[in-house]
Amino acid sequence: MMFAARGLWPAAFLMLTLLAGCSPPAPREPDAADTAASTAHSAEEQVSHRAAVAVADAHAAEAAVSVLRVGGNAVDAAVTAAFVLAVTKPQAGNIGGGGFMTLYMDGQARFLDYRETAPSLANRDMYLNVQGEVDGEASILGHRAVAVPGTVAGLWAAHQEYGGMPWAELLAPAVKLARGGFMVSPELEAAVRSAAPRFADTNFSDYFGAITAGEIFRQPELADTLDRISREGPEEFYRGHTAALVVSEMIRGGGLVKATDLLGYRAVWREPLAFEWRGYRVLTAPLPSSGGFAIAQFLKIRDLRGADFAGLPHNSAGYIHLKAEIEKRIFADRARYLGDPDFVEVPMARLLADAYIEARAAQIDPLAISAPEPVGVLKEGSHTTHFSILDGDGNAVSNTYTLNTNFGGGVVVTGGGFLLNNEMDDFSLAPGVPNYYGVVGDEANAIEPGKRMLSSMSPTIALRGDKVAMVLGGMGGSAIFTSVYQVMLNLVDFGMDAREAVAATLVHHQLLPPDLITHTPGAPLAEGTVSELQAMGYRVEPHFSKFGEVQLIWVTEDGEIEAASDPRFAGESLVLELPAR
Ligand code: DON
Repeated sequence: MMFAARGLWPAAFLMLTLLAGCSPPAPREPDAADTAASTAHSAEEQVSHRAAVAVADAHAAEAAVSVLRVGGNAVDAAVTAAFVLAVTKPQAGNIGGGGFMTLYMDGQARFLDYRETAPSLANRDMYLNVQGEVDGEASILGHRAVAVPGTVAGLWAAHQEYGGMPWAELLAPAVKLARGGFMVSPELEAAVRSAAPRFADTNFSDYFGAITAGEIFRQPELADTLDRISREGPEEFYRGHTAALVVSEMIRGGGLVKATDLLGYRAVWREPLAFEWRGYRVLTAPLPSSGGFAIAQFLKIRDLRGADFAGLPHNSAGYIHLKAEIEKRIFADRARYLGDPDFVEVPMARLLADAYIEARAAQIDPLAISAPEPVGVLKEGSHTTHFSILDGDGNAVSNTYTLNTNFGGGVVVTGGGFLLNNEMDDFSLAPGVPNYYGVVGDEANAIEPGKRMLSSMSPTIALRGDKVAMVLGGMGGSAIFTSVYQVMLNLVDFGMDAREAVAATLVHHQLLPPDLITHTPGAPLAEGTVSELQAMGYRVEPHFSKFGEVQLIWVTEDGEIEAASDPRFAGESLVLELPAR
């Protein structure tokens, strides 16, 4: 077990140890007892002395726990976890991509947008041939798919605003794991093996090809890069040696990101999309994510049709049909109206107004598939990673970041040792052309220099009064927000505990292809339910890729804290008892 922060912060650690009157316990292995942990404390005491983490791998969980144990706050733990994932989960953890962070710090709701931007040389037709058709896979493979990365700027911005521990100490575990290496899991080896053939024309295999389960994997170039960032901050990434390496890589492969694009990149603080739902105040992702919009529309329309939902068992055919009826309308609005609010006028107030939601709810036929209005087609990708953190003071960070699809576009920055994103594919390349995730878009999400591509990432926090009740998010492109609200309903409507809520089969519909219901690969719907849906006119199939992987922290009405990671993946979640302060 590695506890870099302990070694680096001996005085504070010793003091906390003495206050606690004993050596702090090592983080417990997550097990059923973790999520069901109960003590005789009051709810108030529990919130102030217990913390929780739910994250995609054990290395990041351990680093975040170490930070929380020495008194770091949720943002400190988030910064550490994000940099560790950039080393140990190269499919999605990154410094060459971007993401979103929803925060509840010191009683304030905040949202940080560190989504990538289109390079200044990008233009709306850059992926089209003379016939106006999408030509090849340049939006998703190789150098031309790369957008200006936002992760380092984003994590720095969060740390500048709220960090309590020194930046360099928070990066130390990542540097150590990159330099000293870590044991490769079978999942990582399998991900590399399945991605490598797609990346035959990139330098992916030079860096990752030798990965073997059970062996130690070291990344010396990445260690140097992280070390420079830990000493010099984001300046290093956006204008220093790392920037020069990125630009050289772009020149080498015909990519568009220039030095001025890196210099001009800014993470943006935005208002979270906030709404009231069943006594919770939900704080979630605003544009340029479609996630918050979709979660708000879904939960509101669902409650307006509450009489139809009443009594329907979880994941019954009737339930899934009503859910799909709402979803096809959400995806129609998403395709038609949503894009980067700094570039296009999005009628968000109207789309979330009671009158509009009521009109949409009224269109739903509880017994039959209704025809939604036609939309042009937009497409979206398959690896992203979310983590949820609650610190001992009741602050929370909900963070989702990504390279877009697994290992991004397969381009590693030579000399820098890190993968670059292929986020350009999240723009609509042409009206009505589906992206990797099969979603379509229109003008609002067309490519423009400096613009952020529409996302589905949905880092979400729900408050009960002024206390955190839920911290969650997931992965799976256009199935991210549909996963998030299903887990919220599993908790609130179906009384599941955190573990059950993330383990339940997830079901997805996204308007196109028409009448297609997909479900969690490896955890299918009951056969009888599939037959009933087929009798209604649906096609039912496993989702085309893995999705969900929800990382959840749930504080029950009694103040019990539960943490859970989708058991179909290698996540770690635990609730920890902090020394009294
Ligand atoms: O921003 C988005 O919505 C996508 N780029 C997210 C990609 C994703 O979730 C891939 N994960 N499975």
